[in-house]
Amino acid sequence: MLPLKEKIQALSASFFDEILTVRRYLHQHPELSMQEYQTSAFIQQKLKEYGISFEAGIATTGIVGHIHGMKEGNKTIALRADMDALPITEANNLPYKSTNSGVMHACGHDAHMASLLGTAKILQNTREYWGGTVRLIFQPSEESYPGGASLMIGEGVLENPVPAGIFGQHVAPQIEAGKVGIRKGIYMASTDEVYLTVKGKGGHAATPHLCIDPVLIASHIVVALQQIVSRNNTPWIPTVLSFGRIMGEGRMNVIPDEVKLDGTIRTFNEGWRAEAHRKIRTIAQGVAVSMGGNCEVDIKEGYPFLKNDETLTSDFHQSAAEYLGKENIVDLDLSMTAEDFAFYSHKIPACFYRLGTRNEQAGIISNVHTATFNIDEKALITGMGLTAWAAIKELAR
Ligand code: NI
Repeated sequence: MLPLKEKIQALSASFFDEILTVRRYLHQHPELSMQEYQTSAFIQQKLKEYGISFEAGIATTGIVGHIHGMKEGNKTIALRADMDALPITEANNLPYKSTNSGVMHACGHDAHMASLLGTAKILQNTREYWGGTVRLIFQPSEESYPGGASLMIGEGVLENPVPAGIFGQHVAPQIEAGKVGIRKGIYMASTDEVYLTVKGKGGHAATPHLCIDPVLIASHIVVALQQIVSRNNTPWIPTVLSFGRIMGEGRMNVIPDEVKLDGTIRTFNEGWRAEAHRKIRTIAQGVAVSMGGNCEVDIKEGYPFLKNDETLTSDFHQSAAEYLGKENIVDLDLSMTAEDFAFYSHKIPACFYRLGTRNEQAGIISNVHTATFNIDEKALITGMGLTAWAAIKELAR
């Protein structure tokens, strides 16, 4: 019997052609959030082909697969991939370009699914090496609220038994292919949408004294809300409050009746997150009322912040160092973007890591959520092998 690491490396290399075809098929057939029907059918067909048992139709298109090792062990480790694409028209000229017009796998979820299928095939072909159970979670709708993760959890994917840990992998166009990015503790922000409607009284711009000017009120609100981050927040909890849209439909010489503001608040602490929402309401309404107007505040809660469990992430770091070498591990900074994997991280020990997919020489440098996003597909060899290795190592701990 080959040592496990060499065995996994050999299997990753020999499955690469197939996993490449899988990724390209998925890339060519992207589907939007909660509409991943063909994608789900394709994954089910692959799991059948690999001899892996599964349940489908969870939270609409979700799938949960199970692989049992042949050695002693009753630990369960979960591995998660997201399945949805984005409403972006692909600008890449690739032989496997999206055939679903206006829809594109611009966030690498095609790679996440392909890599996890590769990992599944490796695990299925190394069962004599390990004990316990690997639960494969293919979830819908990462990109769209309330997030497939929360729906899958609601359907019980983290129960019977509760997994000892869950790993999630995400492509990273900032990191060179062949490397992975890891961070312990808090990693990605909670994100909530803030919608303000400032109500005043419109009229002729030449007679502002007869109006209640919502443009002026909105301007004061934008400035006043700056104090939430600078004066109310504990300095060591990173927080961002940004307004990207102000809409007042008056004219050069017309003061409008109302002004709308759209913004986002992102942070890393649930208590402070709720407090910040209250502050936004109090300040926005207080400023508006003090100026004779009013302000409706509508805050739509998105995903919570994502925390990487200290122990599970240390374990993963060690596994990655063994599998790829220390020189291929990159430390990640905090990110103010969000991910619905965060929901899992508030339920059980979780580790969300980045798979490098950049290749500057080949011009593969575009960011996720852009029309020119692509990956260096060689990263799939790293992704599928490392995840299998890390899962088996964790089962043995
Ligand atoms: Ni994504």
